[in-house]
Amino acid sequence: MLSKSQAKIFFLGGTGVFTAAFLALTFDTHRKVPAQTRQANITPAVDRGKHIWEDNNCMGCHTLFGEGAYYAPELTKAVERRGKPWLKMFLKDPEAMFPNDRKMVNYHFNDAQIEDVIAFLEWCGNVDLNGFPAKPPLAEKMKATSAAPVVTTKPVPAIFDMMACRGCHSLGGQGGMAGAALGAPPLDDVYKRKNKAELAAWISDPAKVKPDTKMPKIPLTPAQLEEIVTFLSSLGN
Ligand code: HEC
Ligand code: HEC
Repeated sequence: MLSKSQAKIFFLGGTGVFTAAFLALTFDTHRKVPAQTRQANITPAVDRGKHIWEDNNCMGCHTLFGEGAYYAPELTKAVERRGKPWLKMFLKDPEAMFPNDRKMVNYHFNDAQIEDVIAFLEWCGNVDLNGFPAKPPLAEKMKATSAAPVVTTKPVPAIFDMMACRGCHSLGGQGGMAGAALGAPPLDDVYKRKNKAELAAWISDPAKVKPDTKMPKIPLTPAQLEEIVTFLSSLGN
């Protein structure tokens, strides 16, 4: 049995120790915040992007850092997962990117606003979250479907990244993350399946060739289309 004064000392001592631990841990957390959030990377564009994020209540559907609503995809690693060119096209016209599939709201953002949103999401993706979000359990399987059977070593023209093709299709063993779940094949050996005319017809309007396709119609100039078709069909030589 403790005497009254022993109980008092026990109470005060215990409270003192745990208050000290609480203060030390709080101080330690605050000391680490600037490094973990990569505070130095918060540019004016990131700041503007965050305001766009808040003003439009994106969190009403999406989660960011795991917080928000569970209707739409978690966006912390959106830039890493999709790549900037894909996101740029998606935010400009979300429906066009998912033909025959789910749809996101079209906010009719202008190009500058889209750059800001992407800058904000990129900053989010670089915050040190101790490993959150975990890699999806299917990530390895999805990788296997996009492993190119014939990996070209020819330099891939910039247009493939600029127009988001490599976001969905792997080429030269790179890319394909955004298209793995849609069944977008690697393009290294597409010359075996489609000749030049077929490639041009497909790429300029996929749904005209296959109405239920999941490949979006990408706005290309005739010169860009020509460059892509010429490159893809040259891979067999
Ligand atoms: C009404 C619900 C809703 C709201 C609000 C919303 N989104 Fe979405 N978003 C979706 C859905 C659903 C998808 C999944 C793509 C699809 O099926 O079209 C999506 C997909 C995305 C993607 C692509 C993610 C990926 O990896 O595929 C990005 C980026 C995105 N939204 C950004 C935003 C931003 C930025 C805002 C706010 C300006 C916003 N969303 C507001 C429903 C919403
Ligand atoms: C949003 C993802 C997405 C993007 C972006 C995309 N594709 Fe596709 N693509 C697909 C899917 C999915 C298929 C398979 C379609 C099917 O069979 O219905 C496909 C099929 C193809 C095929 C036919 C492949 C074959 O084996 O016959 C070619 C060629 C192609 N895409 C080229 C391109 C080019 C070039 C671009 C960029 C201008 C591009 N794609 C952008 C998703 C995408």
